[in-house]
Amino acid sequence: MHSHQMTTKPYAARRAALARQIGPDGVAIIPTAPERQRNRDSDFLYRHDSYFYYLTGFTEPNAWLILTGQGQSTLFCAPKDLEREIWDGYRLGPEAAPASLGVDEAFAVGELDLRLPRLLENKSAVWYPFATHKGLETRVDGWLSAVRSRVRFGALCPEQQRDLCGPLDEMRLVKDAHEQDVMRRAAQISAEAHVRAMQLSARMLREGKDVREYHLDAELLHEFRRQGSQYPAYGSIVAAGANACVLHYRADTAPVRDGELVLIDAGCELDGYASDITRTFPANGRFSGPQRALYDLVLASQDAAVAATRAGQRFNDPHDATVRVLAQGMLDLGLLDANQVGSLEDVIEKRAYFPFYMHRTGHWLGMDVHDCGSYVEPSQLGETSERKDPLSNELITNRPSRILRPGMVLTIEPGIYVRAGEGVPEQFHGIGIRIEDDAIVTESGCELITRGVPVDGDEIEALMRG
Ligand code: GLY
Ligand code: MN
Ligand code: MN
Repeated sequence: MHSHQMTTKPYAARRAALARQIGPDGVAIIPTAPERQRNRDSDFLYRHDSYFYYLTGFTEPNAWLILTGQGQSTLFCAPKDLEREIWDGYRLGPEAAPASLGVDEAFAVGELDLRLPRLLENKSAVWYPFATHKGLETRVDGWLSAVRSRVRFGALCPEQQRDLCGPLDEMRLVKDAHEQDVMRRAAQISAEAHVRAMQLSARMLREGKDVREYHLDAELLHEFRRQGSQYPAYGSIVAAGANACVLHYRADTAPVRDGELVLIDAGCELDGYASDITRTFPANGRFSGPQRALYDLVLASQDAAVAATRAGQRFNDPHDATVRVLAQGMLDLGLLDANQVGSLEDVIEKRAYFPFYMHRTGHWLGMDVHDCGSYVEPSQLGETSERKDPLSNELITNRPSRILRPGMVLTIEPGIYVRAGEGVPEQFHGIGIRIEDDAIVTESGCELITRGVPVDGDEIEALMRG
C-alpha cells in the first residue's frame, strides 16, 4: 500500500468519465499487471498496471475492474487468506474493497469466470485494452462464448469488441489536479536527488576518492527511497565522460574522472507517477571552456523550447525551436562547416544536425515515463502530407501534431552528443550533454516542475562548491 492517505474521489471521477465514453450499453474489462518472475522463485518488484491504477488507486496484483457504461463498478481481487498473508503480506480483500476503494461491489478473483458472463450479458460492446495484456483476448473469447451459450434463454451477446486504450489514453493525456499534485512531488524528490548526486561527485573527487558511476546511482536511489518513492521510474542513466554519448547507457562501474562531465538521467516514481530529469555537470564542479560552450548551447536550445510550450502550440513546436538553436550553434562552434552543409535553413531542411542531435525533444510524461496519448491532433487525423526523409529517403506520412492543452505534461530534453570523428573539432570529442525538465502545460506557458535542481551553469558550479 502507498504511504499517503488513500482518497477515492479522483478514481471515482475517472470511472464516471470513462463510463460516459463507452456508452450505456458498453462494458469495460481492465486487469492489473501480472507478477513477473525474475529468476527461479524470485519475482521482479511488483508494479501495477497503469490503466488499472488510474481507475482504482489499487496496487495489489491479481485484480480486475469491470465497469459498465452505466457507471457500475465491480472489483475482483485476491481474497483474504491469513496463511498466505503471513508469507506475502496484507491483502485488502473483497469485503473491505467497496468502502476502501469506492467501487460498488467486489468479489474474490477466483469468481471471475463465474461472474463475467453475467456482467457481459445484454451489453452491445465489450471494451478492453488491446495488445497490452498477454492472453486477455482469449479470456474475453471464453466469456463471450459463455454468454452465447445462453442466447437461447434470451441473453444478448456483445457484438463489438473495442479498444479501451483509445478513450483511456485520451483521458490520461490531460492530468487532473490530483495527478499534477503527485507529479510535482515526484519531480521535487528527483530534483533533490540530482542535487545530492552532483554534490557527492565533487566532494568525493576533492577527497581524492575513486568515484564510480554506481556511487552516484546509489545516492539517487537513497534520496528517492528516503522521501517515500517506491522505485525509479526507469533505469537510471549515470554516464561518465564519453559514456554520455550512448543514449541508453545505464549506471555502471566506469570511473568518474576529474575534468570530465557526468550525465545523469534519472527520476523517481511516486505513488504511480513518473518524473524524468537529466542534468549534465562537471564531475569536479568546474566546467572547462569547451564543455561550457556546448552546455550553454543546449541550455539556450532548451530555453527556446520552453518558450514554445504553451496551450495552443503544437507538440512539435518545442522540438523545432530546439533544432533551430542547436543547428545555429553547431555552425557557430564549428561542429558543422557551412562550406559543406550550407546555411542554417539547409542544415534544418537536410537534417545535417542529426549526427549530434538524433532524438526528439520530448514525450508525454505521466504514470508511464513515455506516457500514452496520441502525438497527432485527433481533429486533424485526415490532413496528411507526404515528404521524403532527407537521410533515409523513406517516404513519411505527416499529420498535424498535437495541439497542447492545459494539464498535458511533457518533457523538454534537448541534447548534443559529440563522438570523436574526422572533421569534428577535437576539443568537443566525447562530450555528451542533455538537459531535461518536466513541464505542465498552462494557458500562458508551462510550469517547469523539476527546477528544484538548477540548470544554469554558474548555479550548478555554485552548488558543487564545498
Ligand atoms: N529517461 C527516458 C527519457 O528521457 O526519455
Ligand atoms: Mn530522461
Ligand atoms: Mn525523457
